[in-house]
Amino acid sequence: MYAMVFAGLETVAEDEIVKDLGGEVKRSGPEVVVFRVPEIDAAVLQLRTVEDVFLLAWGTDKLSRRATDLERIRQWTAREPDWNRLLNIHHAIRPKPKGKPTFRIVTQMSGEHGYRRTDARKALANGLAGKLPASWRHAEENAAVEIWLTINGSVALCGLRLSDRTMRHRTYKMEHLPASLRPTVAAAMVRLAEIKPEQTVLDPMCGAGTILAEVFEWARHYNLRLGKVLGGDLEKAALRAAGPNLRRLGPVSLTRWDARSLALADESVDRLVCNPPFGKQLSSPEEIRPLYRGLMREWNRVLKPRGQAVLLVSDAGALREATAPVDWKFARQLRVRVLGQPAFMSVWRKD
Ligand SMILES: C[S@@+](CC[C@H](N)C(=O)[O-])C[C@H]1O[C@@H](n2cnc3c(N)ncnc32)[C@H](O)[C@@H]1O
Repeated sequence: MYAMVFAGLETVAEDEIVKDLGGEVKRSGPEVVVFRVPEIDAAVLQLRTVEDVFLLAWGTDKLSRRATDLERIRQWTAREPDWNRLLNIHHAIRPKPKGKPTFRIVTQMSGEHGYRRTDARKALANGLAGKLPASWRHAEENAAVEIWLTINGSVALCGLRLSDRTMRHRTYKMEHLPASLRPTVAAAMVRLAEIKPEQTVLDPMCGAGTILAEVFEWARHYNLRLGKVLGGDLEKAALRAAGPNLRRLGPVSLTRWDARSLALADESVDRLVCNPPFGKQLSSPEEIRPLYRGLMREWNRVLKPRGQAVLLVSDAGALREATAPVDWKFARQLRVRVLGQPAFMSVWRKD
């Protein structure tokens, strides 16, 4: 199998695949993890930190990027996979919808190649000739089966998509604000927070509540009893969105506050997971250092000793500077891109 992953989250996705599915990671590259699982069942659709999962038909990391690749793509597609077996596994996990079966071919290409995406698509379609039942029709919308070819530089992966858009967008309905996080990014932060039973979790700048929604999803998935779930924001509009989003998922306490002055007791929070505003969301980027300093002072007050924080920021230097006066130990950092700019997801432990 392989999973498509938001850039930067590959190691978190690998961890989830190994620990939750008992999978074995065969290789991992930018935005993709190729893995093997003892048994392919609907559990693969429960992964929280990946965008999509596929049954692997064939893969290579040896594309020449020249036009000769096209004939190889056709041959690999025609000869390598047992398409019947792949279709049977697909149908077992995603039952065929009623009516005439339909399929769709999707080709993605990045990097420089001596051929166009449409040429690669044609090579794939030619290789598929005779592999799908003749009665199947091509459909761009709601196709029962999607066959994908993803080419990134000299790497190509071809497979049957098992997931649909609900994997990355979730089935819980969210009111979104422009700065809302992608659910898989929020899920990665929640995974890194290692929340234990009965712990109190806080997102002091919760926006529309994506991180706390993923906290509830995490608890549901692992059958974990949460302690208090707390959120807040400076903006009324954010709380108006977060309230309906979160109350459907579980009991939450939301407060309008300045995250530098929280209405919470000292050492009352076990896990703090937050994505403070990025520099470009502030009226002037110079505000970021004093803001982070104020946040760290207050967050250190409310976090319990041995508590953990997972923070997603645009300015890692400013965050390190702000954590220097508090007794927080840096544990891990991942680089991602959020809203088109580099961002850093970091894990901290309060000593
Ligand atoms: C990047 S957004 C968080 C997005 C959120 N994780 C989501 O997915 O919806 C940052 C949030 O911080 C809030 N904010 C900015 N300054 C604040 C402050 N001093 N105190 C509390 N919240 C603040 C903003 O209103 C915004 O909702």
